[in-house]
Amino acid sequence: MIVKAPKPKKVYVETYGCQMNIADTEVVQGLLAKEEYEFTTSIEQADVIFVNTCSVRENAEQRIYGRLGEFKKLKKKRPEIVIGVMGCMAERLRSKITGERANGVGQAVDIIVGPDEYRKVPELLYNAWHGEKGIAVQLSRVETYDDVLPLRTSGVSAWISVMRGCDKFCTFCVVPFTRGRERSRTVASVVAEVEQLSAQGFREVTLLGQNVNSFRDGQNDFSDLLQLVAEVDSRIRVRFTTSHPQDMSDKLIETISGHKNICKFIHLPVQSGSDRILEKMNRTYTREHYLNLLGKIRAAMPEANLSTDIIAGFPSETEDDHKMTLDLIDHVGYDGAFMFKYSPRENTPAFKMEDDVSDEIKTRRISEIIERQSAISEQRNAGTVGKSFEVLIEGESKKSSTDWVGRTDGNKMVIFPKGEFEIGEYRIATISRSNSATLFGTIQEQAGESAAA
Ligand code: 5AD
Ligand code: SF4
Repeated sequence: MIVKAPKPKKVYVETYGCQMNIADTEVVQGLLAKEEYEFTTSIEQADVIFVNTCSVRENAEQRIYGRLGEFKKLKKKRPEIVIGVMGCMAERLRSKITGERANGVGQAVDIIVGPDEYRKVPELLYNAWHGEKGIAVQLSRVETYDDVLPLRTSGVSAWISVMRGCDKFCTFCVVPFTRGRERSRTVASVVAEVEQLSAQGFREVTLLGQNVNSFRDGQNDFSDLLQLVAEVDSRIRVRFTTSHPQDMSDKLIETISGHKNICKFIHLPVQSGSDRILEKMNRTYTREHYLNLLGKIRAAMPEANLSTDIIAGFPSETEDDHKMTLDLIDHVGYDGAFMFKYSPRENTPAFKMEDDVSDEIKTRRISEIIERQSAISEQRNAGTVGKSFEVLIEGESKKSSTDWVGRTDGNKMVIFPKGEFEIGEYRIATISRSNSATLFGTIQEQAGESAAA
């Protein structure tokens, strides 16, 4: 079938949610680039607008509906524009997007495409040029886009999705329903992609999956994959996210500690410090198991930085449960955390539990958690002042065009004057001051050699 656009069309994509969505946007762009589509960062110039969506919390969806409302207005002025919704909301809401709940924004939507149907995007677009709306939301047990070359915008850091879906079924989480069952790419295809990125001069790869520790390809598990990826090029830093505490094996800890270019930064979502709540969340570990795991990580890699995800106000959470979360935060001393108020999601097991913690209490609890974690982040960052770290220069600081931003192995952002340095270089930064989110420093003249230097 011919799926080419009538003439080169410009596509604008807005991406919400997790890093998997960023990687998926690059996959879709890769598929469209093959069909001679072009890309733009300007809505005014776009012939096609895609929104890659997130369903993980209600406020994420509300924001996206708001955005679709704006695109609907745009379409009134320029009816030839094609609007597509992709990702988790497309999967979760399907025809509802075109219904009432969406405040009528649906009339403006031409294409609805779920996370496992991106190969159909060129065809759906072709149909849209011919006045036909399209919906493709079938989930797959095998689709990994293994053979699709993502169209990347950065030349330094690359996202590589290595597995898709999630079989954990945490009771609060919509992901197993929007992204379907777990499936992994082949080790060979991931390694080949990293080899290609190395040849192109990339300096960092982040292996992505909803639960990377479940990666499996024949006899190879995630630690085997990580090792093989790390061995491709010692100048390439390797990161990964997200890990589930239940599947974080001793072998994986050994692999991380045994390779200089695997970053000593581990994001390990805990969600709650209370065993009773962890059980209701179906997290399948206890606080003790989690803390033992962190103990093993810290014993193997005392310099490792840690971050986590926390949910406040899960159904039936008491003041005591909440205090256990605060206590765990104090006890661990994370470098950072993503902290959320519980948001009931239709069709999840927790949706059937009574959402009995009032919004007022959730708000107070989340503020306490954020306050506690900010103080700890500030303290951890203050501990870096006077020390030196190798940073990979990623780009311009958002706040100042005369500064670069680089990242340490431990995932801390460092801002420093641009000097003679370039994006993609490793340099040694000496930290002069810090706040809870960022480090500030200067670069030593001597260049860093590699991620493994
Ligand atoms: N409500 C609030 N937070 C949620 N998360 C996932 N589902 C929900 C929900 N229903 C958070 C978890 C997860 C992160 C990606 O989003 O902390 O680790
Ligand atoms: Fe959601 Fe749990 Fe799977 Fe993470 S592990 S995507 S929180 S179900």
